[in-house]
Amino acid sequence: MIIALNNKCNFTKIEYLNYQDELSKLNTHHQLILCPSATYLAISNPSNYSLGSQNVSNYENGSHTGEISAQQLKSLGVTYCLVGHSERRHKETNEEITEKLKHLIDNDIIPILCIGEKKQDESLDKRQEGVKTKINELTSNLTEIEKEKIIIAYEPIWSIGTGIIPTNQEITELVTVIKQILPKNKVLYGGSVNEDNITILKQINNIDGFLLGGLSLQPKKLAEFLRKI
Ligand code: PGA
Repeated sequence: MIIALNNKCNFTKIEYLNYQDELSKLNTHHQLILCPSATYLAISNPSNYSLGSQNVSNYENGSHTGEISAQQLKSLGVTYCLVGHSERRHKETNEEITEKLKHLIDNDIIPILCIGEKKQDESLDKRQEGVKTKINELTSNLTEIEKEKIIIAYEPIWSIGTGIIPTNQEITELVTVIKQILPKNKVLYGGSVNEDNITILKQINNIDGFLLGGLSLQPKKLAEFLRKI
């Protein structure tokens, strides 16, 4: 399974180096993708994980103060990149997301495109329709071959950091819709996954892995999660 670790805006430099040390002791056959804060990409030493970024510029390069381009990420050994995470999405237009996907693919970086509905209380049909529309909107400029390169992270926004998770049945049905549009793509689930609820979540049989936020910061709990999965 693919296990993507989104550290978000956490750790000082010393804390990160210690964390990385702990992480390197994890012994797992699952594929780990570590997405640290961008400031630590250059000091990361991927031994048992692949390096991912939490974001990329929608510009190719040039006079764009503070931006980090796909080409620059590539030069640091980054091979994956989160795109459109809900914690950034309110600042980003569909057009910018599309540009980011394109630049990443052009630089051989696999985008992990985050998609998920805002509200839990909508009908399953409506949630499925919303996810479908979003994927179609964001990938319509890509060729079929480019589309196949994307990993989708299904992350219901109401579940991120809240401790509330959808039922296995709900996740299965949402992932089914995603795989109808993108049959060759890997799909992860993200939102409040932890070392306890993994025993239930691992029974879902149409997902290819998980995207972890809070749990990614705690190597001991992460080790327990990896043992159970
Ligand atoms: P969480 O975050 O695991 O803390 O809910 C997931 C995410 O934001 O990707």
